[in-house]
Amino acid sequence: MLFVTLTLLTLLPYVTCKPPHIIFIVADDLGWNDVGWHNDAMYTPNLDKLASNGVILNSSYVQPVCSPSRNCFMTGYYPFHTGLQHSAIIPEQAAYLPSNFTTLPQKLKELGYVTHMVGKWHLGFCNWKFTPTYRGFDSFMGYYNGAEDYYEHTIVGGYDFRFNTTVFHPSKGEYSAHTIASRAIDVINAVDPDAQPMYLYLPFQSVHEPLEVPESFERIYANISTKSRRTYCGMISALDEAVGNITSALRSRGFMNNALLVFTTDNGGPSYTAANNLPLRGAKTTLWEGGTKGVAFVYSDTLLKKTKYTNTEMMHAVDWFPTLLTLAGGKPDAGMDGVNQWATVSNGAPSARTEFVYNIDEIDKNAAIRVGQYKLIEGSPGAFNGWTPLPPMLETVVNEMFPPYQLFDIDADPTEHFDIADQHPDVVKRLQDRINFHRTTAVPANYPLPDPASNPKHFGGNWSPGWC
Ligand SMILES: *[C@@H]1O[C@H](CO)[C@@H](O)[C@H](O)[C@H]1NC(C)=O
Ligand SMILES: *[C@@H]1O[C@H](CO)[C@@H](O)[C@H](O)[C@H]1NC(C)=O
Ligand SMILES: *[C@@H]1O[C@H](CO)[C@@H](O)[C@H](O)[C@H]1NC(C)=O
Ligand SMILES: *[C@@H]1O[C@H](CO)[C@@H](O)[C@H](O)[C@H]1NC(C)=O
Ligand SMILES: *[C@@H]1O[C@H](CO)[C@@H](O)[C@H](O)[C@H]1NC(C)=O
Repeated sequence: MLFVTLTLLTLLPYVTCKPPHIIFIVADDLGWNDVGWHNDAMYTPNLDKLASNGVILNSSYVQPVCSPSRNCFMTGYYPFHTGLQHSAIIPEQAAYLPSNFTTLPQKLKELGYVTHMVGKWHLGFCNWKFTPTYRGFDSFMGYYNGAEDYYEHTIVGGYDFRFNTTVFHPSKGEYSAHTIASRAIDVINAVDPDAQPMYLYLPFQSVHEPLEVPESFERIYANISTKSRRTYCGMISALDEAVGNITSALRSRGFMNNALLVFTTDNGGPSYTAANNLPLRGAKTTLWEGGTKGVAFVYSDTLLKKTKYTNTEMMHAVDWFPTLLTLAGGKPDAGMDGVNQWATVSNGAPSARTEFVYNIDEIDKNAAIRVGQYKLIEGSPGAFNGWTPLPPMLETVVNEMFPPYQLFDIDADPTEHFDIADQHPDVVKRLQDRINFHRTTAVPANYPLPDPASNPKHFGGNWSPGWC
């Protein structure tokens, strides 16, 4: 008996410290007002249930567009430290996440994880060494570019869908959310949850344009009269169903006993198509909160000490790398921009940061920083500057003139109605100094001209590595 007890006691710490499975789900272009817990008109029962039983992250910041946010998730460094600070990578561009940055899956593999990715990459593909298969993923099914047809997998004249490095054609007519869910479930069924920890990175195509969804999902929103909004909302419900199917598979295979699920958008909603960010100001592509304050939550059956509440502590997309790596038993590099937020996420402790940089973009000549309650915007925040109402009132681009510096108190004024720069010149100066300090550490943006060598006609009609 004594022997048994001792054995159990010595085994216990080992058993409870087994590195957890990590499922990192990224929604593409999901607006603040486009999930059930912010908007009653949205039908997202699976996401609602996970969010309400987990921790809703209410101050989880991302970059204004796709590639830069994915860069943060993958490296823990701000895009102005990797050259990806200006806009998203376009298909013909030899732009990429530089290969001297170690990715999160590479680090997790060193710790014994199996690593799988299903969905959108958008961190460069002009050379094989920049693609997911060579950046830490045991398997990859998905596409290299930022957007494409949800059924045909084509974008500007080329086909873009692979399984590992091989061009792959999912079943004819299958919708992307189904393809991604079904591959994710195949991975879940193939991995033994007790043998090795798993990192499953699921950057969905949903709900980026083009606006496409099977009729059955659109029908849920029959009472919305604007076609684009109806389709976009249907796309969100398709994503929700996919997440529901994936979490059921995780549960029935026994992963949930020791798993952390992260859900985040990559940027705010493009309200100029059909997304909505109310009550926040601005949209995808802008430095306003509507472009950068992302919908996010974490969920776990077992790992979170405090759950079922809304956490308002400051987090940034760069924080996931050190947070997840530390949780997995690893150690982030010193000097990384991200900080370990596990105490905040799991237990509601105060944020490990008091400052973050929204972006520094020398091409757009703008920047923004948050220090404590204050946000300073330098230059133009972008082209979408209003509080876009729900469709049918779609926003038109207004190139408003803004003062060179705008200051907002985000705690008191989260919707950015009141520029208080004139009242607080001392605060403006202090935040300017912080931006200028960070600027001295920036690398130049890698935003080259389109390269004709990228043309899919050189690669059998496929967007393909091999031209840089
Ligand atoms: C559609 O119905 C939902 C659910 O009943 C409701 O919350 C929403 O406000 C309605 N939308 C419109 C545009 O009437
Ligand atoms: C990667 O290389 C760039 C350019 O030489 C350098 O600025 C950066 O610090 C390097 N980053 C890492 C993480 O090694
Ligand atoms: C992709 O790689 C994974 C892991 O090595 C493997 O299980 C899978 O069969 C590969 N798929 C194809 C189509 O080669
Ligand atoms: C979810 O699973 C159900 C039952 O297998 C299936 O009918 C449905 O198409 C799946 N949905 C998605 C988005 O994968
Ligand atoms: C979450 O953020 C929204 C938008 O800024 C704000 O309206 C809401 O009050 C916040 N929730 C909490 C609990 O602070």
